[in-house]
Amino acid sequence: MSRQPAVLTVTLNAAVDKTYRVEGFCLDRVFRVEAGRVVAGGKGINVARVLHTLGVPVVATGFLGGHNGAFILDSLKQEGIPGDFVWTQGESRVCLAVIDPINGTQTELNEVGPEIHPEEVVALEKKLEALLPRFDYVTLSGSAPPGVPDDFHARVIRIGRESGVKVVLDSSGALLRHGVEAIPWMVKPNRAELAAIFGREPAGREDALQMARRLREKGIGIVVVTLGKQGAIWVSAEGAWFAQPPEVEFVSAVGSGDSMLAAMLYAVIQGMSAPDVLRWGVAAGAANAAVFGAGFCTREQIEALVPKVRCERLSCRLFAGERRNCHLR
Ligand SMILES: Nc1ncnc2c1ncn2[C@@H]1O[C@H](COP(=O)(O)OP(=O)(O)OP(=O)(O)O)[C@@H](O)[C@H]1O
Ligand SMILES: [Mg+2]
Repeated sequence: MSRQPAVLTVTLNAAVDKTYRVEGFCLDRVFRVEAGRVVAGGKGINVARVLHTLGVPVVATGFLGGHNGAFILDSLKQEGIPGDFVWTQGESRVCLAVIDPINGTQTELNEVGPEIHPEEVVALEKKLEALLPRFDYVTLSGSAPPGVPDDFHARVIRIGRESGVKVVLDSSGALLRHGVEAIPWMVKPNRAELAAIFGREPAGREDALQMARRLREKGIGIVVVTLGKQGAIWVSAEGAWFAQPPEVEFVSAVGSGDSMLAAMLYAVIQGMSAPDVLRWGVAAGAANAAVFGAGFCTREQIEALVPKVRCERLSCRLFAGERRNCHLR
């Protein structure tokens, strides 16, 4: 019996994620805060949470350290998500998000994370080399703590290719810039992340589409550009689409990109068409924006939004050498 495709999520900078709800939040005042939600976080962990919710076998890896690291691993265990991490001498970070439901704002205070020692970097590389062949997809999400070389993701993408694993890159800054040069299977930048690659944010949807096409020209299989609540653009060998999420009652968009990534992988594994994969992704991003915390939307909430996503095909020329009948899986 063939096993179900499995996903490995890599989180270099895992976090204890605290979310406070503060009505009328502003600077230079004291607020009394009722107990906020405290959960395991970091972008790859959010991706793992939504994959687990959707029934996709997933393992979370990366760096963990100290009491915060132990809390993260224990929380994952309680959620039913297996973790296989490299332990660091430094303490995993805390990220604080303050949601103001009155003004619709979201303020984030994110620690940079512990200093990672060179031998810890080598230990994670070794672990990934050993783990990768057991998985079909690997996600590289988020920023890195200090001490991780800028080409870390690029190296994993190359190892992944050699092992026949599809690598999804959803990172920022120099890690992203180096990563795209290593040609991942899929990349999912938002506006700020496009600016890290191209030196400027896209001026609008058309500009974002052009930037996505330029990334495709490098040889990246699937490029998804997210534009917050405006929606997202998909460009692959199948063509280009733009999808707009339905209006949702906004709570917090922290982790919308991660939820989207997980739902797209789920849809790819189900064998869905490119526009349906995008629909599932956009629906999950919206479902996440309507709940408290990162990646806590349910399958039912996502499924209910899928038919409400407006998806339009964008005119797309095929680049030389592209295969017309490229299967997403
Ligand atoms: N307020 C919102 N209402 C509805 N859908 C949303 C909202 N915010 C985001 N989404 C959906 O989720 C997708 C991903 O969101 P976004 O562009 O914020 O990703 P991101 O910047 O990578 O987020 P993060 O890295 O925090 O997970 C968007 O393309 C959109 O479809
Ligand atoms: Mg993101």
